[in-house]
Amino acid sequence: ALVSMKEMMIKGKKEGYAIGQFNLNNLEFTQAILQAAEEEQSPVILGVSEGAARYMGGFTTVVHMVKGLMHDYKTTVPVAIHLDHGSSFEKCKEAIEAGFTSVMIDASTKPLEENIRITKSVVEYAHERGVSVEAELGVVGGQEDDVIADGVIYADPAECKELVDKTGIDCLAPALGSVHGPYQGEPNLGFEEMEVISKQSDLPLVLHGGTGIPTKDIKRAISLGSAKINVNTESQITGTQAVRDTLNADSEVYDPRKYLTPMRDAIKKTVIGKMREFGSSGKA
Ligand code: G3H
Ligand code: ZN
Repeated sequence: ALVSMKEMMIKGKKEGYAIGQFNLNNLEFTQAILQAAEEEQSPVILGVSEGAARYMGGFTTVVHMVKGLMHDYKTTVPVAIHLDHGSSFEKCKEAIEAGFTSVMIDASTKPLEENIRITKSVVEYAHERGVSVEAELGVVGGQEDDVIADGVIYADPAECKELVDKTGIDCLAPALGSVHGPYQGEPNLGFEEMEVISKQSDLPLVLHGGTGIPTKDIKRAISLGSAKINVNTESQITGTQAVRDTLNADSEVYDPRKYLTPMRDAIKKTVIGKMREFGSSGKA
């Protein structure tokens, strides 16, 4: 069923596992992620960046595609359609009007007072409609579509407390050393801050930049209150590798289904691996 991500995250934080947010790029990504979730009997969050929504046609296209697949696949597990890194109140509103069940408002580049003001307005609009809200503080490194950072800034626990108390968000993404895209060397996650932030607010935390984080760090983050982990790049890498291998092995192939089926299968395998690592398998 299509739901907000509130209940699944509360349950995850309480029971000590995380739900994966897997980003969509097209039909095959959506198929792969929904198939993985059903097979694993795992709740799942479909992440849609503004850039990816633009690529696919728009928010409405995405919602209809997801609903169509859930109908045809007879999906039984909880699924949230979540706007990833929403850039403004307007964009969040647009996504909600199109049928998204969850949004992230990323006003993390703004001064704290403004971040609080914008986030609060999104919460008011979203909660009236049963839609969950994620907000961010600090700077996640690297690049994802329109979200480009040069450097990493760790979120400040006192600012996190203020943002949570003043806005009523459902979950918080404190940037604590994670990076969008591949890491250069090992990530250096701020686990001490994570523990403080998680305890002081009792809200589920979100870990962005899930690609390339070692399993021991994933487990530690979950034990310290991270109940949602975002993965995008890793599905793109494994999916594209499968296309490359298929085309390299046969220069005569021209039917897109011949190379997109291996892509879909590779993404599905990646997603299943993450669901098991995050502990969400069997928790639907
Ligand atoms: O918002 C999406 C993520 O934080 C994905 O990060 O591409 O490094 O896996 P990633
Ligand atoms: Zn992110």
